[in-house]
Amino acid sequence: MARLLALASLLGCSQALFAVNTVDIPLNGSKAILRPDAYGYSVEPSSMAPFLQTNLASVLMGHIANIIGTPAPIRVGGNIADQTLFVPDLDTPSLALPNDTTVEVLQIQKDWFRGWTEYFPRGTDFIYTLNLRNTSQLWTNAMQEAAAAMDVLGDSLALFELGNEIDHYINKGWRTATWGTKEYTHQWKQLTHQILTAGFYRNSTHKPRFQAAVFADPPWVPDQHDEIDDFDIINVTRAGLVDPQIIAAYSVHLYPQSTCDEVRRARLSLNLLSDHEVIWRNLSQYVPQQAAAEAAHAPLVLGETNSASCSGQSGISDTFGAALWSTDYVLAAASLGIEQVLFHLGHTSAYSAFTPAPYESEGEELEAGIRANFYSHVFLAHVLGARNNRPQQISALAAANASDFSGYAIYGEGPRSGLEKLVFVDLGVWNSSVGLHNPSTLSATDSTSVSPGRRPHRKVQARTTWQPGTEVKILKLQGPGTNAKSGVSVSGVSFSPETGEMVGREEKEKVVVQHGGIVELELLQAEAILAQRV
Ligand SMILES: *[C@@H]1O[C@H](CO)[C@@H](O)[C@H](O)[C@H]1NC(C)=O
Ligand SMILES: *[C@@H]1O[C@H](CO)[C@@H](O)[C@H](O)[C@H]1NC(C)=O
Ligand SMILES: *[C@@H]1O[C@H](CO)[C@@H](O)[C@H](O)[C@H]1NC(C)=O
Ligand SMILES: *[C@@H]1O[C@H](CO)[C@@H](O)[C@H](O)[C@H]1NC(C)=O
Ligand SMILES: *[C@@H]1O[C@H](CO)[C@@H](O)[C@H](O)[C@H]1NC(C)=O
Ligand SMILES: *[C@@H]1O[C@H](CO)[C@@H](O)[C@H](O)[C@H]1NC(C)=O
Ligand SMILES: *[C@@H]1O[C@H](CO)[C@@H](O)[C@H](O)[C@H]1NC(C)=O
Ligand SMILES: *[C@@H]1O[C@H](CO)[C@@H](O)[C@H](O)[C@H]1NC(C)=O
Repeated sequence: MARLLALASLLGCSQALFAVNTVDIPLNGSKAILRPDAYGYSVEPSSMAPFLQTNLASVLMGHIANIIGTPAPIRVGGNIADQTLFVPDLDTPSLALPNDTTVEVLQIQKDWFRGWTEYFPRGTDFIYTLNLRNTSQLWTNAMQEAAAAMDVLGDSLALFELGNEIDHYINKGWRTATWGTKEYTHQWKQLTHQILTAGFYRNSTHKPRFQAAVFADPPWVPDQHDEIDDFDIINVTRAGLVDPQIIAAYSVHLYPQSTCDEVRRARLSLNLLSDHEVIWRNLSQYVPQQAAAEAAHAPLVLGETNSASCSGQSGISDTFGAALWSTDYVLAAASLGIEQVLFHLGHTSAYSAFTPAPYESEGEELEAGIRANFYSHVFLAHVLGARNNRPQQISALAAANASDFSGYAIYGEGPRSGLEKLVFVDLGVWNSSVGLHNPSTLSATDSTSVSPGRRPHRKVQARTTWQPGTEVKILKLQGPGTNAKSGVSVSGVSFSPETGEMVGREEKEKVVVQHGGIVELELLQAEAILAQRV
């Protein structure tokens, strides 16, 4: 339905080209739940102590909790989860060996879990990944971790995972060639049974449940598979890993791009990240997986994800393009029934939305700070937070479904159900000549590409069921350009990279619903907009 108008020639002035999209908002389309905790983080276990050393993440998560009304969930897991050893008499809470940047083993004792619930906003749900690699003496290590985590985290410990990316265990030499859904399901049931029947679990007033699967390999991308196996949600539920009483979710990990090897490094691209059709293709491979999870009575979640695996790529993962990617990705996932997306954080990773302390990378000294991608969370917090905390549902809009343009309708649930919000994302790449540097990122990757001419904008005419005259509040996720690393805000609100405190005031913007329920919106190329019924 998009009509492209070359207004520049029409008007004979320097007006940038713009597109007009007429978008029907159907009321009868298929809707999926939009959870208030749809956007969260996964923290590499060895990065937990470094993050807790400064207030930055605590302050930032406080803003998010205030906007949504619900704190963002925090998973503590990742590769290091299966390299974590519980050492009861360790003389420090945790010890990364050989050092903080190259971690082969993370030794922990009970005190390591202390401070998490105080650091993050009250009510934060934690997901903790137990070590499934060390099977010896009936998982003594995992049992000690479970007991300590439950004792210290109490009600805040929502879920346990057993092992991380267990479909890479053969490749890592942690299991033999017999490792598959059958053996995994057997071991999973054995260890959960041990936990459920242990005194520390039975005595506890709060009983965490489990997030199962935790698979890495994407179903449709053979060159991202570490080994031949039969792991996916369809096969694992068929193998008997079904127990709605204790399985609260099935988790898969997804990294659209990768820096893990030369072949995939050569394919890394900012243009590929800022593309709704690619996002759709990357996510839609999980549609059959989501259906299998649903049939087993638990939702599918992306329990660990980010723009590019193996810590991300500076110049891509830390740009405003990554913020637009995350925005579209979380909403597209939700519309497919993938209920939660947890973005991975390392204290020295290019894809981290914020970093707690200075670190050295490729000969540069990077400052602590906030990367552009964090603003996707701030923007989406306004989408996820609902009037009176009522449940919300989401539909992807068929008339806003192109490489450079996507759109979603958000509905309220219950007696007064109806259209509450519209979100449109312009994913067209616009490369700016300003805002290219951010001292928390590598200056070597600051962009040198500049898009020619003036920045185009797009007019969206949404045909809604809203009454003419209704006021609609507008918020924008804005930045200088796709390639920008700074100068990003949500309608003028940003956050101090040093303290995390809010800077600037929200630029209030409203439109009024026109005759026939038409809502007219304007957004720049590389920008996202939220229109919300007041
Ligand atoms: C929704 O309603 C429209 C207009 O009546 C119709 O064209 C469309 O096929 C319907 N879609 C679904 C999924 O029922
Ligand atoms: C950490 O250990 C690795 C491997 O032994 C070594 O290459 C690296 O220089 C060490 N880094 C620091 C900061 O000590
Ligand atoms: C866990 O497994 C590793 C690798 O086999 C081994 O070095 C370590 O001693 C084991 N630790 C425990 C507590 O079982
Ligand atoms: C559980 O409670 C029982 C009865 O109070 C007690 O005897 C037992 O030691 C407790 N076990 C644990 C692991 O706390
Ligand atoms: C699921 O199992 C079937 C039968 O063993 C196998 O052919 C298929 O490749 C498996 N799926 C995945 C994603 O490994
Ligand atoms: C995501 O899509 C891009 C473009 O088609 C493709 O190169 C990449 O392999 C996909 N990644 C995954 C994990 O599906
Ligand atoms: C968007 O387009 C893809 C094909 O690129 C299609 O499979 C999908 O169903 C479309 N989504 C909507 C909401 O129409
Ligand atoms: C935008 O800039 C990035 C580098 O920052 C470059 O890779 C990309 O090709 C540019 N895209 C366009 C459309 O100019």
